[in-house]
Amino acid sequence: MSRFLSGEAARLAPYTPGEQPQDQQYIKLNTNESPFPPAPKVIKAISRAELLKLNLYSDPACGQLVDAIAKRYEMQRSNVITGNGSDEILGFAFRAFCGEGKGVAYADITYGFYRAQTALFGLDATVIPLREDFTLNVDDYMDFPGTIVIANPNAPTGMAVPRPEIQRLLEADPDRVVIVDEAYVDFGAESCVPMIYRYDNLLVVQTMSKSRSLAGGRVGYALGSPELISALNRVKYSFNPYNVNRLSLIAGAAAVEDEAYFQKCTGAIQGNREWTVRELERLGFTVLPSQANFVFAKSDRISGGDLYRKLKENGILVRWWADSGRIQDFVRITIGSLEQMVALVDEVSRLLDDL
Ligand SMILES: Cc1ncc(COP(=O)(O)O)c(C=O)c1O
Repeated sequence: MSRFLSGEAARLAPYTPGEQPQDQQYIKLNTNESPFPPAPKVIKAISRAELLKLNLYSDPACGQLVDAIAKRYEMQRSNVITGNGSDEILGFAFRAFCGEGKGVAYADITYGFYRAQTALFGLDATVIPLREDFTLNVDDYMDFPGTIVIANPNAPTGMAVPRPEIQRLLEADPDRVVIVDEAYVDFGAESCVPMIYRYDNLLVVQTMSKSRSLAGGRVGYALGSPELISALNRVKYSFNPYNVNRLSLIAGAAAVEDEAYFQKCTGAIQGNREWTVRELERLGFTVLPSQANFVFAKSDRISGGDLYRKLKENGILVRWWADSGRIQDFVRITIGSLEQMVALVDEVSRLLDDL
C-alpha cells in the first residue's frame, strides 16, 4: 500500500468492474449492456453543432434531460435528479441519507458497488443474507433503523421483490429511506415509480445503461419526493455540479423520447431471455427466475470457474465471481441478440459434450 494514501483511502473497498476488452474480439455477455445501438433519435440528436458547443460547460441543472424524464414518468422536475450513471446517483444517496448513527442495509448477494460506497463514506453496513432460494424477504429488514437499499430486480440473481412487499417496508417506518435500485426493471419487473407520490421516503434509482443502450453515455437518474431529490442535489453541488456532460444530456433526453425503440429493444431482450432459459435448462442447467437482461445459471457438470474460463477461451465473456461462497458455481450471462445467444448455447453444448 502506498505511503501517500490517507487512512481513509487505505480502508476503501474498490469495486471491480467486469472485464472491458477494447479489441471487440469477444461476444460480450459479461456486463449487462444492450446488444443494440443507441436509439435512432439519439444518433440524430448528437449533431456537429452540438459537438461545437463542447467548449461550454453543460447545464448543471440538467434541464433538458430532467424534463424529458419527468414527462416520461408523469412527474414534476422536482421529482427528478440525473447523474453520471446511476452509480453516481447511488453515491449521492449513500452520502445524503447515511452517516453517523445511520447505517445502511443491503443483501449479502447484490450489486457489489453498495459495499464500495459504504467503505467510501465510512458507513456501518448491515449485510442481510438472502434466503436459501435467493429470495429477498422484506421481513428481514423490517426492524433495521437506517437506510435500506434493494436492487430490484437483484443483481446478479435477476430475481425481483413484488411491489406490495416494498410497500410494506416503506410503511413500516416512514422516517427511513428505502432506495430501490431499478437498473433492470424495464425487462419485465414491476416498478416502484408509481408509489413515489404516496411515500416520500421512497427513492427509485434507474439507469439508461441497460434498457436504453447508453452504458457508455453514463446516464442515470433518481425519482422521488422533492425532499429526497433536494437532499441529493445538496450532495451533487458539493461534489460535481456539472455532473452530466453536454452530449449525454442530449443523448439521454433523446433516448427517453424514443419510446418505440425502447419497447422494441426491451421486448426483444425478454424474448431472447426466454429462449436462452429454455435452452440452458435443456442442457441441464439450473437457471434462477430472471426478470432482468441477464440470467444466473449453474450446471452440475461443470464448475462456474471452468465454464467461465472455457467460454472465454472460445471468445465468449460471461461474469463469474471467484471465492463467492454459495454463488461460486453460477455464472451470470447477459442476454444479447438472438445470434449471440445461439452462439453461447452452441458453445456451452459443445463444452459439455467434450467433458
Ligand atoms: C444493480 C445495479 N445498479 C446500478 C448499476 C450502475 O449502472 P450505471 O452506473 O451504468 O447507471 C448497475 C450496473 O451494472 C447495477 O447492476
